[in-house]
Amino acid sequence: MRRNFNFDVEGLLAQDKAHAMHPWHSFGRDDHTLLADSEGIYVFDGEGNKYIDGIGGMWAVQLGYGNEEMAQAIADQVRSMVYYSPWSMATPPHAQVSAKLATLTPGDLNRFFYSTGGSTANDAAVRFVHYYWNVMERPSKKYIITRADAYHGSTFLADSLCGKPGNDNRMERVTEWITHLSSPNPYRKPEGMNDSEFLDHLMKEFEDRIKTLGADNIAAFIAEPVLASGGVVVPPEGYQKACLELCHKHEILYISDEVVTGFGRMGHFFASEDVFGIIPDIITSAKGFTSGYIPAGVTAISEKLHQDIIDKSGETATFSMGFTYSGHPVAMAAALKNIEIMERDDIMGHARKTGVHFQERLNSLADLPMVGDTRGVGLMGCLECVESKTTKKSFDENLKIGSRIDKKCQDKGLILRPMWSMCVFSPPIIITEDQVDDMFGIMETAIKDTADELIREGAWNGKD
Ligand SMILES: Cc1ncc(COP(=O)(O)O)c(C=O)c1O
Repeated sequence: MRRNFNFDVEGLLAQDKAHAMHPWHSFGRDDHTLLADSEGIYVFDGEGNKYIDGIGGMWAVQLGYGNEEMAQAIADQVRSMVYYSPWSMATPPHAQVSAKLATLTPGDLNRFFYSTGGSTANDAAVRFVHYYWNVMERPSKKYIITRADAYHGSTFLADSLCGKPGNDNRMERVTEWITHLSSPNPYRKPEGMNDSEFLDHLMKEFEDRIKTLGADNIAAFIAEPVLASGGVVVPPEGYQKACLELCHKHEILYISDEVVTGFGRMGHFFASEDVFGIIPDIITSAKGFTSGYIPAGVTAISEKLHQDIIDKSGETATFSMGFTYSGHPVAMAAALKNIEIMERDDIMGHARKTGVHFQERLNSLADLPMVGDTRGVGLMGCLECVESKTTKKSFDENLKIGSRIDKKCQDKGLILRPMWSMCVFSPPIIITEDQVDDMFGIMETAIKDTADELIREGAWNGKD
């Protein structure tokens, strides 16, 4: 149902266009929709039109919109103790959420450093790793190994860890101690390989890189368990375990970036151990940590690494990194309430069950025209369109296939995330099976309409 608002939509968008710089600001060429309201899995634009939020804000709004308990917890904390310097004081939610997280993280990852989002959580992880090796008197261990198609954020350091195409290469990055392996994307594996051969191929590349750089020069490997913004790349079975074993054989620390996969996207608080069977040295998370209600990031560090520093330095060491808003009481109260609701309402069980249906519906679109690959785990998925299903030839980027499909979906009441010729989904994890059906029903029509449009324009032969 539409809603009635009194917004001056045109005026607001004119102000926005004249003065605001959105992420990936494209110098006046951007057009944004004004969102004015929300409820459950739905958002409403300034004209009152209703959309299914197919991307959970951006992999974030796990509990959906307008959750009264979240609003109340946030308001209560604002009233009682809105802020104090985390350098000098502790607050109840900061202490409580840390103790709670220690019961949810795998292994001995029981130390938590808080920041304002995923990028800063990853910055903290890398800075901690460098600091750790310096304290251990192994200062040559500096290289961070990352991968093509990775996304780890947008601070100077986090951006340098990314391997996803599409950045303007006139932006500066750290280059001297960051090295990229290839993407573990089974859809784009070398021709003629099966998945197990592909895994061997990836591990050989990893081992060769360690030999070339020297294990003594490598500090850590950073990896999303599933590469989210790179197009929901699900590595071949056993990949995460094989990487962890290789890292530990060579005393390379393993940072698992669970900014997207944490807090329910895969039906568990953390996917590293519960889905992929690994206990990394460090896990970073954000987004779903507060269900997007307020910014917060967390870097979970193993007790062993923490204790090693104390043992080596005799308690003189200081991890001299922190933010004004590290462990902000309001964010911590939101995180605590978020976890409480997730546990009480068995949101993880719901996500696991709905995730199976979500994947079935996504895969049912595989036979549609142009659809080369459908992939995902739990409540995250991607549909990749190609010019030829046989050769997997990509469409010309200028055809903007993803954006065309997105436009048609929006006309029918669904927001998804277009990326080149891919469409990405990550709805609020409270979504029901019926709502999943609504979402993919709209998607199916939009793909067929886009295929017809391309044929009409003579931009695609419509056959392969
Ligand atoms: C896997 C991953 N890591 C890190 C980030 C960066 O998080 P933020 O935008 O909160 O800094 C993102 C954001 O999408 C992400 O997907």
